[in-house]
Amino acid sequence: MAKLKAAVLISGRGSNMQALIDYCKTDAAAAEIVLVISNVPGAAGLDRAAEASIPTTTIDHKKFADRESFEKEITQTLENHQVEMICLAGFMRLLTKSFVDHWQDRLINIHPSLLPAFKGLDTHERALAEGVRFTGCTVHFVRAEMDSGPIIVQAAVPILSDDDPESLAMRVLIAEHRCYPLALSLIAQGKIEIVGERVLIEGAEAPGVAFLNPTDDVD
Ligand code: GAR
Repeated sequence: MAKLKAAVLISGRGSNMQALIDYCKTDAAAAEIVLVISNVPGAAGLDRAAEASIPTTTIDHKKFADRESFEKEITQTLENHQVEMICLAGFMRLLTKSFVDHWQDRLINIHPSLLPAFKGLDTHERALAEGVRFTGCTVHFVRAEMDSGPIIVQAAVPILSDDDPESLAMRVLIAEHRCYPLALSLIAQGKIEIVGERVLIEGAEAPGVAFLNPTDDVD
């Protein structure tokens, strides 16, 4: 069966991109990464993608007069590569409604909190300041409003008494690296249905106790 053609958009180190690449290199993967785009010239993730022999390109937002022309170039590049699914992985540019609508249900993002809590930046600092007992990460379909959209996978990460933003970010990142490949794999296997603003997953019922929902042994 033909694999789902995915692209990853990055702005930085690309560790989530790497987790997606690693998943896609497994024999059972139903998706393949056909392109990595960075909006930041020289982003570390570009080297990692090139090492994995994945085509990369830089589309520097600073070279465009406005968001629309920047995004038009991204869409054109993605369409030239027949991309079917876009994965935002630490892509730090806000996207316009027109771009998001064009890629409706074909655009997913990972965010380092349990959405809808802690949208935006500095999620770990804010989770610590609020004293919440759990934070985590979320993979979701992107809608026009920032950090919103149907949730596909979440993992909860307990906050420890001696955590600082860096130690917490590190543990959340480990969870991110499990969640993102799981979400892409569920989509690529056609197991996901969006009903209203909820995602239903074939074969996945929430277990009684779970820190990763759905569990990553769904098959
Ligand atoms: C990740 O923690 C990701 O969740 C976050 O940026 C980091 C990128 O790391 N994304 C956002 O905050 C988006 N709002 P990576 O480049 O190593 O994947």
